[in-house]
Amino acid sequence: MRQLSTHRRHPLAGVLVLLLGLIVAGGLYAAAAPGAARADTAEADAELVAEGRELYLTGCSSCHGQNGQGILQRAGGQYGPSLIGVGAAAVDFQVGTGRMPMAQNSQQAPRKEPLYDDAETEALAAFVAAEFGPGPAIPGSEYYDLSGVSEEDISEGRELYLANCSACHNASGIGGALGGGRYAPTLEGVEGVHFAEAMITGPQNMPVFSDEVLTPDDKRHIYASLREIQAEPASGGFDLGGVGPVGEGLAGWVAGIGALVGFAVWIGKHSVRAGKQ
Ligand code: HEC
Ligand code: HEC
Repeated sequence: MRQLSTHRRHPLAGVLVLLLGLIVAGGLYAAAAPGAARADTAEADAELVAEGRELYLTGCSSCHGQNGQGILQRAGGQYGPSLIGVGAAAVDFQVGTGRMPMAQNSQQAPRKEPLYDDAETEALAAFVAAEFGPGPAIPGSEYYDLSGVSEEDISEGRELYLANCSACHNASGIGGALGGGRYAPTLEGVEGVHFAEAMITGPQNMPVFSDEVLTPDDKRHIYASLREIQAEPASGGFDLGGVGPVGEGLAGWVAGIGALVGFAVWIGKHSVRAGKQ
């Protein structure tokens, strides 16, 4: 207090106070902005849904049906599952990762450059959630915001990942074959919101991990642990890219155990270091 009032007499004090004010205001705005955007008026919502309907009818209904009821496969025809109750999260995931609209019916829709921009994706999600029955909403930043994540959180996330995810996605997150031409994709470069949506909606062969099974914090820590691995290539012994397309169990199993051992060594090293002084 005393220090502040001494400084206030300095000719630059006014500028400093102004700068501080701007920084604080900017921070407050950044914190409040997503909330403000969410507080849409009912009118804007109706507009968004109407826009989504148009996009849906031209881009999606040929496979998923006019009312989202799904279309069963006909000889040579297009088809898609019912979208009743899938919710905004599934649409944001499928469209946001470029999986939908599916180019042609195949074993599995690959991740690719999205066809729709953010606004269109939001409209599609709003439409499906409003018209095809309620389902999981698009998860908020509490599922993937990495600020303030500690070392402890990351090792907790690592354990949850090894227990729940690595069987399909590989210990290092590079993905793997599942048989029948299907695969669990690499988790590298997946955006935080899509990462959370995959766990919440369980696309294709992936199980749903509800918030009762993995809390939003658990999901955030899993995401953090993968980011950590991917940020330090090779050094931790996690880089198994050289294995190539893993045929089946054995190679994956060996690699998995190897990574586990590597991780154990890593933990050992770190805790010893932490123990000294
Ligand atoms: C060529 C046919 C086709 C088109 C066009 C198409 N889809 Fe799909 N969609 C599918 C098939 C097949 C699946 C299931 C296969 C999969 O999940 O990989 C699917 C799955 C989905 C799912 C996941 C459903 C669930 O149970 O989780 C959503 C959501 C979805 N589509 C939304 C859309 C939206 C929105 C559009 C328009 C932008 C669209 N799709 C366009 C064929 C299509
Ligand atoms: C039984 C196997 C299986 C398990 C277990 C599993 N996944 Fe998946 N996962 C898949 C498959 C298959 C897909 C691809 C779905 C598709 O293409 O529609 C997928 C997709 C994903 C994606 C989307 C990646 C992208 O390319 O956009 C993420 C993120 C993801 N999984 C994370 C996880 C996490 C985290 C866990 C553990 C909590 C987990 N998965 C457990 C099979 C699995």
